[in-house]
Amino acid sequence: MDEDIERILFHAATIQARIDELAARITDDYQGKELTVVAVLTGALMFTADLLRRIPLPLKLDCVSVASYHGGTETSGEVKFDQLSLPDIEGRHVLVVDDILDSGLTLDAITRRFGKECGPLSVRVCVLLSKRRERRKEVDAEYVGFEIDDEFVVGYGLDYQERYRNLPFVGVLKPS
Ligand code: IMP
Ligand code: MG
Repeated sequence: MDEDIERILFHAATIQARIDELAARITDDYQGKELTVVAVLTGALMFTADLLRRIPLPLKLDCVSVASYHGGTETSGEVKFDQLSLPDIEGRHVLVVDDILDSGLTLDAITRRFGKECGPLSVRVCVLLSKRRERRKEVDAEYVGFEIDDEFVVGYGLDYQERYRNLPFVGVLKPS
């Protein structure tokens, strides 16, 4: 699996150190507030698990499953929610956690739908990675682990055709 990686962008230790910083900020910001974290499956699994274990607040955890990619490296433009019921976040402060902010379609669809249909007190976004590119939908991510160039990355939750999620680092795939 490692042989398919052209270049490592963030080593495991670098990721963990950055998560320490994000967790400290989030802990400060949500002190005394009713917080629900909503992880976007499947890519945010590793990041969310590591992040939340560093946030000593009485938070709730929920998940949503959406699909905007269909197996390749190009987004299709539509965002589909897999579940029938949305998380119960009425009257709560919500932090949506995802692996990467790319076109913005996914997080825009999730945050707008939560705001419109679920009655949260606030909705903020936390992503491990944010691509420097023109977005199809503008998303204001309050917590960003790392900014990266516009290239396709895998590892630490991020996949190419459902592979490479279990790599402990984030890297760029070889073109082949
Ligand atoms: P967006 O809707 O274009 O912002 O894309 C969000 C989703 O696309 C993320 O949650 C990822 O699952 C996937 N994605 C975007 N860029 C990459 C990448 O470079 N590698 C792997 N998955 C990606
Ligand atoms: Mg994904």
